[in-house]
Amino acid sequence: MAMWSLLLWEALLPMAVTGTNIQGQVGGSVLLVAKHPQGFQVRDAIWRSLWPSEELLATFFQNSSQTLYHSRFLGRAQLHKNLSLELRPLESGDSGNFSVLLVDMGGRTQIQTLQLKVYDAVPRPAVQVFIAAAGDSQPPKMCQVFLSCWAPNISDVTYSWRQEGAIGFDLEPHGLLANGQVLSVSLGPRDKSVAYSCIVSNPVSWDLATVTPWESCHREAAPGNASYKDLLLLVVVPISLLLGLVGLLSAWHCGPCSGKKKKDVCADEVTPETENPLV
Ligand SMILES: *[C@@H]1O[C@H](CO)[C@@H](O)[C@H](O)[C@H]1NC(C)=O
Ligand SMILES: *[C@@H]1O[C@H](CO)[C@@H](O)[C@H](O)[C@H]1NC(C)=O
Ligand SMILES: *[C@@H]1O[C@H](CO)[C@@H](O)[C@H](O)[C@H]1NC(C)=O
Ligand SMILES: *[C@@H]1O[C@H](CO)[C@@H](O)[C@H](O)[C@H]1NC(C)=O
Repeated sequence: MAMWSLLLWEALLPMAVTGTNIQGQVGGSVLLVAKHPQGFQVRDAIWRSLWPSEELLATFFQNSSQTLYHSRFLGRAQLHKNLSLELRPLESGDSGNFSVLLVDMGGRTQIQTLQLKVYDAVPRPAVQVFIAAAGDSQPPKMCQVFLSCWAPNISDVTYSWRQEGAIGFDLEPHGLLANGQVLSVSLGPRDKSVAYSCIVSNPVSWDLATVTPWESCHREAAPGNASYKDLLLLVVVPISLLLGLVGLLSAWHCGPCSGKKKKDVCADEVTPETENPLV
């Protein structure tokens, strides 16, 4: 809706503009507006695609319009009476540059170029909760979690986070990892019901998913619940390497150990989480 009103607002500006940027959504429609100065009485109009392929899309000559050209927009282009060209439904390959040539009654010409970018609608993201460190006490007092957000097969998305119910809440930048896809937070018992939302957006759409990470701090052992191990493998590879190195060093330290008792002590120093990525 906002885009339509923006287009209308732009259409009211008196000056002809080149290089207008227009954004559309797959499955939706766009209106490529043919602007002309006041007093410019249009006699002919020619709409073309300039890139990625040069094609004739629509013409208006001698008071009659034509859109049945063999272009990739055949059957999807409609030339309105005011000579604006509507494209619908949009496909993901429709991005490109367009131009319209207008000719007035006196034979004067004017060319406008427009740039169209078509985006997919953003799908609902998936948020996974990884427990980095739950407090030793039962139930845990503190819980360090990583929230990982992912939107399936889509480009041009930005990730952001918000804490639900918090006004003016700012997530510390150092809590954000992997281009904003991962948020690291420390939770205490007071944060039991604090929910975080991951918002994925592109210029034409957005969606979000919300989790209450404290719940996962208690369900760490439950089957199907993502563990720290998964995060090591998937996201924080450098950390896993570092921990792996520590594991290696302690294993090396264990090497010369002899006697069952001493070995057990050494093995205790290596947590299962750091051992597994090495396997
Ligand atoms: C499309 O138009 C934009 C803006 O006018 C321009 O910067 C860009 O180079 C054009 N792209 C191609 C491939 O012609
Ligand atoms: C073009 O068509 C309109 C209505 O469709 C008509 O009023 C006008 O006279 C026509 N002009 C020419 C030049 O044929
Ligand atoms: C042109 O016509 C279309 C379809 O009737 C309309 O949506 C649009 O607002 C009109 N104006 C401009 C400037 O394109
Ligand atoms: C995303 O996945 C859907 C179906 O799973 C597929 O139709 C679509 O082409 C994919 N999009 C991209 C950009 O890979």
